[in-house]
Amino acid sequence: MEGMQQLKDDYPWTNTPLVVGAPMRLIALADMAVEISKAGGLGFIGAGTDTSTLSSDLLAAAELFYDANIKTSNGVLPIGIGFINWGADLGTAVPLIEQFRPAAAWFFAPTSISSLCDWTNQTRKVSPQTKIWVQIGSVQEASKILLAARPDVFVVQGTDAGGHGLVRGASLTTLFPEVTDSVHRTCRQEGIPPPVLVAAGGIVEARGAAAAFALGASGIVLGTRLLASPEANVSNGYKSEILRVSDGGQSTVRTKVYDKLRGTTGWAGTHNARGVINQSYVDAMAGMDEENKKLYEEEIKKGEAGWGAAARMTTYAGTGVGLVKEIKPAGDIVREVREGSRLVLHRLSSSAIVGKL
Ligand SMILES: Cc1cc2nc3c(=O)[nH]c(=O)nc-3n(C[C@H](O)[C@H](O)[C@H](O)COP(=O)(O)O)c2cc1C
Repeated sequence: MEGMQQLKDDYPWTNTPLVVGAPMRLIALADMAVEISKAGGLGFIGAGTDTSTLSSDLLAAAELFYDANIKTSNGVLPIGIGFINWGADLGTAVPLIEQFRPAAAWFFAPTSISSLCDWTNQTRKVSPQTKIWVQIGSVQEASKILLAARPDVFVVQGTDAGGHGLVRGASLTTLFPEVTDSVHRTCRQEGIPPPVLVAAGGIVEARGAAAAFALGASGIVLGTRLLASPEANVSNGYKSEILRVSDGGQSTVRTKVYDKLRGTTGWAGTHNARGVINQSYVDAMAGMDEENKKLYEEEIKKGEAGWGAAARMTTYAGTGVGLVKEIKPAGDIVREVREGSRLVLHRLSSSAIVGKL
């Protein structure tokens, strides 16, 4: 459990086990990130590919923390920032990292290892206290990045995750232990300390979180679950969809269709995104192309009515969406999942499964 202790040392205001709020692009903003950290988790602002409002988001977060009395060991801002590297602007990001010194910078989907290293090196140079998190989705990705970028934390993303991830993925159940073994083997060979490993993808409540801890995760990430919070910067139509949809393996799909409709076409062929199946997807599968984009653009004008099974606005969400049943404040979600997972593990430890060893 060295990883859990490392997280506690690095983010001293947090409670163990660590619950992290995913840096959902332009959805997880100051309100969400701050509420999560105030609840003893680690919140991230999701800048994604767009750093144009990051300065005002960080200022808003700093103001929200003003009288919060949060304990940080080294004067960092007790939240992180998430970047989608292929599209984010390094030149805008670095001065903001230097100015605001976030506790963590989360990187995802770089165009190359050398461009990822530009981000990690420059971040470390201007703000050595900022920990480097990198989200990966395969053993191969982890091995390529490990020695080149020496991240403090790997976020291991399973294929159940909502939003973008690898087209060819595996569930956390197989991916997490294999990444752990591979990373630890390399670190032993190289004589370097291993990064902390955190799990993401399909974790929405206490049982899933407990399962991730059983797999060896030192912390867990919530994305989809936090979409159903007042702090999520999405329309009520999106939130209603999250509450309506069940049976995520059937009702969501990994696809590039939504990127195409939305014009977010900079993603490499290796990545697609998981979202709720709607009319746009059905029509795309039936061969509709240009007309589909036109219909999508008309749907935008409908506002909240644009979401739903027979509608066309995109609802990125993971397979855990069926377990999300209510809108709840982000801080309460963090406390519920953290304390609930402890209870699940406590019950297991005194159950017949463990018995007498
Ligand atoms: C709506 C949405 C937007 C996301 N945006 C980002 C992003 O900008 N950057 C990133 O690294 N991950 C992003 N993710 C993926 C999360 O970091 C995380 O891996 C995922 O949400 C975990 O799975 P879950 O949704 O089942 O909790 C997003 C996820 C969702 C649902």
